[in-house]
Amino acid sequence: MYYPDELIEEVRMKNDIVEVISGYVRLQKKGANYFGLCPFHNEKSPSFSVSPGKQMYYCFGCGAGGNVYTFIQEYENYTFPEAVKMLADRAGVNLPEIEYSEEAKKAEGKRSRLLEINKEAAKYFYFQLRARQGEVGYSYLRGRQLTDETIKKFGLGFANKTSNDLVQYLRSKGFTPELIHEAGLCNVDEKHGMYDKFWNRVIFPIEDINHRVIGFGGRVMGDGSPKYLNSPETPVFDKSRNLYGLNFARTSRKGNIILCEGYMDVIAMHQAGFDQAVASLGTAFTMGQAGLLKRYTREVLLSYDSDGAGVKAALRAIGILKESGLTGKVINLEPYKDPDEFMKNLGKEAFQERIDHAENSFLFEIRMLEKEFNLSDPEDKTRFHREIARKLCDFSEEVERENYIEAVADKYHIGFENLRKLVGSTAAKTGLARPVERPKSGIQKKVTPEENSRRTQRLLLTWLVEEPQVYPKISRFLSAEDFTEELYVRVAQRLFAGLEKGELNAASIISLFPEEEEQREVASLFNTKLIEPETQSEKEKAFHDILVSVKRISYEYNTSRLGTDVEALNRVIEGKKALEELSKTHISLN
Ligand code: GTP
Ligand code: MN
Repeated sequence: MYYPDELIEEVRMKNDIVEVISGYVRLQKKGANYFGLCPFHNEKSPSFSVSPGKQMYYCFGCGAGGNVYTFIQEYENYTFPEAVKMLADRAGVNLPEIEYSEEAKKAEGKRSRLLEINKEAAKYFYFQLRARQGEVGYSYLRGRQLTDETIKKFGLGFANKTSNDLVQYLRSKGFTPELIHEAGLCNVDEKHGMYDKFWNRVIFPIEDINHRVIGFGGRVMGDGSPKYLNSPETPVFDKSRNLYGLNFARTSRKGNIILCEGYMDVIAMHQAGFDQAVASLGTAFTMGQAGLLKRYTREVLLSYDSDGAGVKAALRAIGILKESGLTGKVINLEPYKDPDEFMKNLGKEAFQERIDHAENSFLFEIRMLEKEFNLSDPEDKTRFHREIARKLCDFSEEVERENYIEAVADKYHIGFENLRKLVGSTAAKTGLARPVERPKSGIQKKVTPEENSRRTQRLLLTWLVEEPQVYPKISRFLSAEDFTEELYVRVAQRLFAGLEKGELNAASIISLFPEEEEQREVASLFNTKLIEPETQSEKEKAFHDILVSVKRISYEYNTSRLGTDVEALNRVIEGKKALEELSKTHISLN
């Protein structure tokens, strides 16, 4: 760690977690906490909570949780020092210059070094585009009607015809051959050694949402093959979790996102003022990308090529959007192939009109389906209607289904009642879609006795964080060593040390754990759901029960270790006394 702990604490305290998260998630106050839709998994009803008192967030759906640093790291995909820097800037705290010793550089890790080499390569490509040998690339881009401003905004560049000038340049900057290779910037073979992966191509640097270059796409000059070449996946380049143009589109105020197929489409759209355009990275649209989009919008407009491959890709994307709970619509580009060509020919006003008339994704699916049937043949026509009915069964909500039956019946001149009956009989045979019960998180644990006892221990920690004033009344019965999980002990030691001094330091404890996984788990210790007993005496009884259970769990745990652990005997004796005394003690929660 490069910054002193006190500074990290100062920055954390000056960034109220509710304020920070409100910049990303719409929160609503409910009791003492705030709730919203979790940005870390797909959900329709809010299980993401932010506690101003604890200065923590926790999702009861997927278990994501932590303090304000954890949130920024997870959301922005920042390293810890980057999160500190951002929040320090936000709060106007001056950070000392970090000295990058050789050692620190090493510790900074592979990811940072890959980002560094990518940045250097992007700079190199950028300058080549403006040099003599890059003229062919520059005039290509200008020929595609990109302005200088656009070329600059997207950092476009050029990879020369010569076969290893980038490699040489990067070597001269001190980057190792291994790193150059790992960044996917070169190929290696026995005959030629190391040579540039990209050559004779205009270069599209691919940036993550924070404008860091994570990879490259390159378009060949002329008709070579492959037309587009992309960086391979690396530790910083995950093609299924990034989108081209999202670094700009995320701050668009258009209220929707336009998903295109190609880099050139995105750039042409932005240049025309459609700053909400993004594209996937030379691969099909994924659930991960849908999840990413869901942080920024509810509605995605597909602007895929109008050819057969484009329609197929659009149909796939529609399925993914639906599964993610996003509304999908399809922009009709006919008679042009892609948005770039459309705009060149008809201009941006015409494109805006197509946006305004984007087609409902279900109706688009039906319209594409229609092409497979010959509607002048009664038998084919019947099969088409049956297929429609089958698809209509996918709507589990009655109102929605009825509305679609009405829309389809109207459009395809099928009697409403007839189609409705057909849907009914199809459903009787195959069943209506039930609303999908999603697993709450990837981890669906069976509730074992061990998990039950861990849960009881978490309940006690959560209770103490929510009502720290009871700590002095029970501290003589309880010690951090009563907990049976190593992580729980470490957390309890620190929590109790704070409570002894009358301080609640739960959020700062999280910063002591460097791994996000651990931070998540620590957050869960402080966010176990308490049952809300009705009366004060029920509440006191519940608390008493939990405390006694934790002591009993500790007692049994230590008893089982009598032979192996020298400390265990003392704890067993102490535990027995505490249990006896507790059975006679009333603990008031006032
Ligand atoms: P232009 O001819 O430059 O206008 O291309 P386009 O934007 O019309 O691209 P096209 O529809 O051919 O392809 C769309 C996207 O698919 C591109 O931006 C690439 O990401 C990807 N792509 C196209 N061709 C290839 C290829 O040969 N290999 C790979 N890996 N990806 C490709
Ligand atoms: Mn094109």
